[in-house]
Amino acid sequence: MIHSWRGQKKYMLNEYKILTVTHKHVRLERIADFVVTHVDDNELQEKLTNLKSQFGLDELLYVATCNRVIYLYKSAKELDLSFVTSFFQTINSSLSADYIQRIITAYEGKAAINHIYEVSSSIDSLVVGEREILRQIREGFERSEKWGLTGSSIRLLMKHLVEASKEVYAQTKIGEKQISVVSLAIRKLLESNLSKDARILLVGAGQTNLLVSKFLVKYEYTNVTVFNRSIEKAQKLAERFNANAFLLSELPSYREGFDCMIVCTGATEAIIKKPLYQQVLGDDGQEKLIVDLSIPNNVDRPVVEEFNINYIEIEDLKQLAELNLEFRKQEVGKAKILLQRQINEFQKIFQQRQITKALQSVPSEIKAIKEKALNEVFKKDLESLDDNTKALFEKMMTYMEKKCISVPMKAAKELIV
Ligand SMILES: NC(=O)c1ccc[n+]([C@@H]2O[C@H](COP(=O)([O-])OP(=O)(O)OC[C@H]3O[C@@H](n4cnc5c(N)ncnc54)[C@H](OP(=O)(O)O)[C@@H]3O)[C@@H](O)[C@H]2O)c1
Repeated sequence: MIHSWRGQKKYMLNEYKILTVTHKHVRLERIADFVVTHVDDNELQEKLTNLKSQFGLDELLYVATCNRVIYLYKSAKELDLSFVTSFFQTINSSLSADYIQRIITAYEGKAAINHIYEVSSSIDSLVVGEREILRQIREGFERSEKWGLTGSSIRLLMKHLVEASKEVYAQTKIGEKQISVVSLAIRKLLESNLSKDARILLVGAGQTNLLVSKFLVKYEYTNVTVFNRSIEKAQKLAERFNANAFLLSELPSYREGFDCMIVCTGATEAIIKKPLYQQVLGDDGQEKLIVDLSIPNNVDRPVVEEFNINYIEIEDLKQLAELNLEFRKQEVGKAKILLQRQINEFQKIFQQRQITKALQSVPSEIKAIKEKALNEVFKKDLESLDDNTKALFEKMMTYMEKKCISVPMKAAKELIV
């Protein structure tokens, strides 16, 4: 579905565009079909750089979170179904045109700006009011900047977007009684009556599992072992529990048993597959609690289906999230009003900047006209004048030069609505 909100004037926001898949339209596991799969940052950088150049995008910002994937880009090219189809078939060649067109939502112009403002202030989140999304968008932007994918237009947008989102969090009660995907998952974990001395394996040591660990400490779960791709982060996280830390590659040989596994990494493919799970499980027949907070899910489906598991994934949290939304509905309304003011403000700033850019050459062009008049066109006439008259002419020409520069600048400012 394409939401277009294009302005008639040349300097509107038309070139900002967004292609996205969110929790609102699909089961979360489907989002995985539209992310850029990668084993490490180098591969992600290479794939995004190729995407940007293949589709002739001026700028590109990529953000994948637990409940959405966003491609925010700037381009004058038309956003139509054939562009959307070939864009996603480049990302994932197994996707059919029909599937892409059913699932993808596209925004253009002011509709794109509106959408990204609502996302970053968490109005559009699975868990309305969680601030993680702003951090994730900022991190995505910093990474895209570092890789040379973004430029001045997305930079300008980010600056205003962050300020607007902070204002929403400060001026409304949207983030009151802080709630997050992680806190909802922990609520589910507590409901499962996991005993306080349960053996917990934390797989992944990123921001999300860091948050998980804070809750585990709060609810007095201390029998924790951490596994992570890099050992430094695993050790840092393990310090919270005075626990052991291991490399993820050591998980297959771990034989101490477990009652609960909390899996959350940035891997874009399942990392807990059947053979690995069977090895770690051994001949233990007890039911295990598995919490998978990764999108795409990091626990392979056959593991969930074939073992004795109580499985909690983000999809299961939707119902709890809806109750949370009910509580925050009024605040969402207030936030939307506030955002509209901020978006109009951004539109003005954007237009001013575009016009200033377009008029940048005016002063030098007018100066060149003056120089030509004095040194070529009227050169002979001027030579016949006495020094005082010549000086007066030059003074008048300089006065005219300044006035000629200010007239279009003033007219341009008045054009901005
Ligand atoms: N932030 C949230 O609010 C939130 C909530 C729910 C779910 N999630 C989901 O949680 C997952 C992780 O997010 P995050 O915010 O914690 O990310 P993060 O802070 O960037 O941490 C990523 C973690 O995953 C590991 N990792 C990355 N790629 C890997 C790979 N190919 N194989 C194995 N390990 C890998 C990293 O290991 P190194 O230390 O070695 O780099 C690191 O421990 C994502 O799927 C996200 O959608 C996030």
